[in-house]
Amino acid sequence: MWKDWVRPLVRPLPQWSTVAVAPPQQMVTATLHWDGKSADVTADHTVASLKPLVIATSIDAGLHPFIEYRDRTTGRLLGTLRLERTAYVVTEDTSLTLYHIAAGEHRCLGWPLRPWNAWLQNRLMLGNQGSPHSALEPAAVQQLMIAYLCPRPVILVSVDAPDHRNIFPMDLIGPLERSGYFSLALRSTNVSMPTMREVRRVALSSIPATMKGVVYKLSEHHKQPLMDWDALPFPARLTREFGIPAVASALRVRELAIEHSQEIGSHTLFLGRIISDESLAEGTQLHHTAGFHQAYRRRQNLPLAEV
Ligand SMILES: Cc1cc2nc3c(=O)[nH]c(=O)nc-3n(C[C@H](O)[C@H](O)[C@H](O)COP(=O)(O)O)c2cc1C
Repeated sequence: MWKDWVRPLVRPLPQWSTVAVAPPQQMVTATLHWDGKSADVTADHTVASLKPLVIATSIDAGLHPFIEYRDRTTGRLLGTLRLERTAYVVTEDTSLTLYHIAAGEHRCLGWPLRPWNAWLQNRLMLGNQGSPHSALEPAAVQQLMIAYLCPRPVILVSVDAPDHRNIFPMDLIGPLERSGYFSLALRSTNVSMPTMREVRRVALSSIPATMKGVVYKLSEHHKQPLMDWDALPFPARLTREFGIPAVASALRVRELAIEHSQEIGSHTLFLGRIISDESLAEGTQLHHTAGFHQAYRRRQNLPLAEV
């Protein structure tokens, strides 16, 4: 149809695509390269702050490493992030390395559609101040999308203290495999941030793709605490060690004992150890990836299932 051909020329791809993926995602690998060395960081890198955009990994890869994202099946390069080491997060047992992003480019669209689509996306975002990342520079949002070439799983985080309870969605999450830590990067304005620093324990529910609507609705709880656990729109189950209400229909429920927290730019990075891990069901989990990644998969006739 002529419309399928004309549409990408006048309308940008969506920045984000919400997809159903069996965890852990295996379709895209992330490899860190530095000084002639390389390491697989598919399960060992995360976004630690959005403003500025900061990546954390367990590996100290020198001053100017880069991450390559590749299609695991074909080996094809999908995108690259060029990093600049800025700082370390030092905990009692180990240290993590923080990197600013110096530049990024993806290969999911051919030229000239690639710069044209970025221009259309940036123009739409700048005209819509209500969009989720409108406070970021357009170049940073394009780089963030490259970091999402590895589809990011969505979890619900539950916090429970005598005077504060809450449950909200997150996808800026670990693991940071080599360090043994699991990380959460939470905007420092989040209403539960002080309680999490104080009680140092949370429950993480891995969310089935079918729960997308409920999960997006719970994003209001980044700003307002939950009044009552009975007010949840789904049944809850108590976690094994901490007795925190988690999602009864979750694929998996883990408990995280927080050992370290630190402000990094716009976010607070929480580092903790998983102290219990219950697998409850098989199925696909809600994930986010970049819209241009889904467009690439569509061209390969291997689109991810959108929800
Ligand atoms: C699926 C999903 C995942 C999210 N993940 C995170 C996260 O990892 N860290 C974070 O600080 N906020 C996260 N948020 C919250 C949003 O970035 C935003 O702060 C929240 O939706 C409130 O939006 P508002 O400030 O535009 O009203 C997430 C929201 C959704 C819906």
